[in-house]
Parts: sequence; structure tokens; C-alpha cells
Amino acid sequence: MNNLIAVIDFGSQTTQLIARRIREAGVYSIVIPCDKWKEIFNHKTTGVILSGGPSSVYEKDSPKIPIDKISVPILGICYGMQLIVHQLGGEIARGNSEEYGPAALKQVSSSLLLSGTDKSTVWMSHKDRVSKLPPGFKRIGTTDNIEYSAIEDKKRNIYGIQFHPEVSHTTFGKRILENFVKVIVESDENWSMERFLSDKLKNLRDNVSGKKIIVAVSGGVDSTVTAVLLQNAGAVVLPVFINNGLLRYGEEDIVINEFKSFGADLIYKDASDLFLERLANIEDPEKKRKIIGHTFIDLFKDVSKQYGDIEYLAQGTLYPDVIESQGTANSSLIKSHHNVGGLPKELGFKLIEPLRELFKDEVRELGKKLRIADEYIDRQPFPGPGLAIRIVGKITKDRINILRAADIILLSEMKKSGYYSKVWQSFAVLLPIRSVGVMGDNRTYDYTICIRVVDSIDGMTADWVYLPEKLLRKISSRIINETDGINRVVYDLSTKPPSTIEWE
Ligand code: XMP
Repeated sequence: MNNLIAVIDFGSQTTQLIARRIREAGVYSIVIPCDKWKEIFNHKTTGVILSGGPSSVYEKDSPKIPIDKISVPILGICYGMQLIVHQLGGEIARGNSEEYGPAALKQVSSSLLLSGTDKSTVWMSHKDRVSKLPPGFKRIGTTDNIEYSAIEDKKRNIYGIQFHPEVSHTTFGKRILENFVKVIVESDENWSMERFLSDKLKNLRDNVSGKKIIVAVSGGVDSTVTAVLLQNAGAVVLPVFINNGLLRYGEEDIVINEFKSFGADLIYKDASDLFLERLANIEDPEKKRKIIGHTFIDLFKDVSKQYGDIEYLAQGTLYPDVIESQGTANSSLIKSHHNVGGLPKELGFKLIEPLRELFKDEVRELGKKLRIADEYIDRQPFPGPGLAIRIVGKITKDRINILRAADIILLSEMKKSGYYSKVWQSFAVLLPIRSVGVMGDNRTYDYTICIRVVDSIDGMTADWVYLPEKLLRKISSRIINETDGINRVVYDLSTKPPSTIEWE
């Protein structure tokens, strides 16, 4: 196993970003939940980063790990820094109000950590702050509000920063992380997509070359890259595509043609009627998700019986799924995400997840290295339950058709304007609300389409996108004029959190 930097997760929204930034710097990094911190000893861990988090060190149940048990260099960020200070004999002052936003960092002493980051703007997000340093520490950076914004104990190789270097608003954030990883830890550059691909291909060739492998595909990036990767490793890939009747307009043809172009024998099953039958009269979002997940499993069982001599099942599980399924003590169920990850063990396959170390953008890079066409690689994410969770209320064929018609207009305008590839997701939602309109001389009483366009890094947080007025006008007037049953279009101005990306 490679040398790595372990990021211990104390619950910050941006923990995954820390690991991504380090990988961008060419060094392998993984995220470990704080209650499983001892896993650092199962790897060749050369440096540890303690993430931020919503807790306060003085809370009785706040997450803690014994800092003195870690002998490699440590960098604490926000809560991670406060934990270091609290445990090593310093003091933390409890804040009454939150400081959230940019601050100007002044270096007060030369240091390896802050070298080359003069006049940095840094991003703060905290309540508590360090009020007294532990013995052996000194202040290296300060801001107008926070005296101890950056600290170090050079002898013990322990560093702390109150701000977030992983977010793009911190101007020299990448440099600070690189200083820690490359100068302080002296890590080798051991992470690149070329290297990942050649190691992975070798490993897969050794293990599954010539073997039959079922891959459940959706046309999405992850399952497509999984299938092509395995094909490149000499496996006999059998892609299974189940049409649940909740796909976007024309989607099934796109997927069928896509796999034809890869030279793979697609096993295609149109189960639209079964899904719609089971979803009839269901309004509750969680029930919809569960019904779709279970129906998918039932159908997959049928397929697997048909092809009884297959040993392996491959899934496009990504690293964020792996991190989330490790779970943390305080996490709560927001939505039952459906993907093939829910397939039961009794199906009897050996599971292969060749992308489980990768983030989404890394999978896209890998897809490009595998020479998969951009049109497949640059597709926006599309959820397993499909349009069912974008039709608020009951799902009927009519409603699916209305949504499809509006959605394809949005999609084509997004593509024409070049915005499709600039945003994380853009889609239409059908609301069950009817309102009065006028078309020609006639009164209408029709449904509403909501447009949702968001930017995100990994789907965990998201912001709505400020599309140009001209584009919005075009989308809105085309949807109203060309979609029967719609007389109103609204735009969703909600961030995640507190909203989610999908409506259900
Ligand atoms: P939410 O709505 O939870 O969505 O903010 C976050 C991201 O996940 C996608 N999503 C899903 N993907 N199966 C999937 O494969 C699902 O059940 C599912 N639900 C949401 C969503 O489109 C967004 O990118």
C-alpha cells in the first residue's frame, strides 16, 4: 500500500475536500471517521490532518482522539486545532457568535507551514477560538479577529490553523496544504490517474481476466467507466440495463447505443410497467425510493438466475459512498439513496468495486484516459430513482410525459448555451400545484415546473446557479409554450443545506 496522508473526520462539511486537495497535489490521501482513528496504524500513514467539525471541545460528548498517540506530523484545522490545544495544555474560549467569511492573514513569524502565502485571504467558519497556547507552541499567523489563527510546535511537528485551507476562498489554501504534505511531511508524489490506471489494470488482469462479470449500468459516468475499465482488463463484461420507466426523454436509446459503441452485449430489460404499477398512488418520497430500490433488486435477481454461471458483480461505488457508508455516530438518514449498492448479499456474486478509491472528478479523468467519449464522461449525475423523485406527488404516465417534455427543453438549452458542462446538475421538477393562466383568449389551470440548477463539488453541499437572464427567459418561454399542461415556471433559489438537491 502507498504512503498516505490520513484526514480524520470530525464532521466538517468540507472534510472530503481536504483529501481531494491533497490528491490534487499528487499525494494519496484517505478520510477516516474520528471514531475509527486507529485505522491510521493499518496504513503507512506519514501525516495526519484533523478536520474541522461542528462540536466544541468542552461539550461532554464531543469527538476526541488522543493526540499524543500520533507520532507523525499533525495539522489541525478549526475544531482539529482546538482539540490539539485543549489536549496539550492550552485553552479554548467559547464563542457566542459565529465568525463566518473572509479574513486577512498576517504572518507573525516565519514558518514552513505558511511559507509563500503572504497576504493570504483565509476563510473562517467557527465559534470557539484558541485563547492560550499549550507549552511548546508559538503563534505564526494572526487575523484582526483571531489572535491565534495559525500556530506550530516545530519540535513535535504539530501545526494548527483556525481557518479552512481546503475551500477555494482561502487564496493560498492549496499552498498551505502542500507545505504540510510536501515540505513538513516530505511525502513522495505517489498519486496520479496514469498510475492508478496502470496499477488497477494490472490488479484486475491478475484477478478477473477472462471471467464473466455482470455490471448494472445506467448510462451514468460511474457504471460506464466501471464497465469499460473491466473490459480493458480482459474481463467478459455483461452490462445489465433496467429501464424503470422513469428515465429522461430518449435516455434508453442513448444508453443502448452507447454500449453498442463499446462493443459490449447489453442485457436490456424494459420494466417500466412493473415500476409504474408498484408506484401507483404513492406520494411519500421515502416510499417511492424504497419501492424503486426493491423492484430493482427483484429484477436483478431474475437476471442473475438467467445467467447462473456468473461469479462476479461490479459496481461503480465511489469514494464518497465508501466514506458515507462507514457512517459516523451522529449522522442521520436524509434520504435512502438507491443505487445498486443496495443489492443483497444472497445474490451470491463476488463484488468488485474498482472505483471505490476515487472521487467523481477523478472518475471522469479516468474515463478520459480510457478514451471514453466526452459526451458520456461529462454527463451530469442522474439519480437511481430517476424522475420519480422529481414528480412531487403521485406518479402517472401523464405526469412523467409532462416532466420529460419540460426537462428535455431545459437540457437542450443548457447544452446550447454551454452551461450544461459548467454546472453540477440542471433539471426540471414537476410540482403538483396548479395555477391560473391565460393562453390566447383562454383561461388555463395548469401545473408548475420548477427549474433546479446547482453547482457542487461532490453533491454533499450545493449552491444554486445564477443563470443569465436571457437563458432563463428562453427556457421559461419554451417550456410554457411547448409543454402541454404547464402554464408556469419557477426557479429554485435554495442552497444545500438546508435544502437538498433533489426535491424528494
Ligand atoms: P440530494 O438530493 O441528496 O442529492 O441532495 C445529492 C446528489 O445525489 C443524487 N441522488 C442520487 N443518486 N441514487 C443516486 O444514484 C439516489 O437515490 C439519489 N438521490 C439523489 C442527486 O441527483 C445529487 O447529485
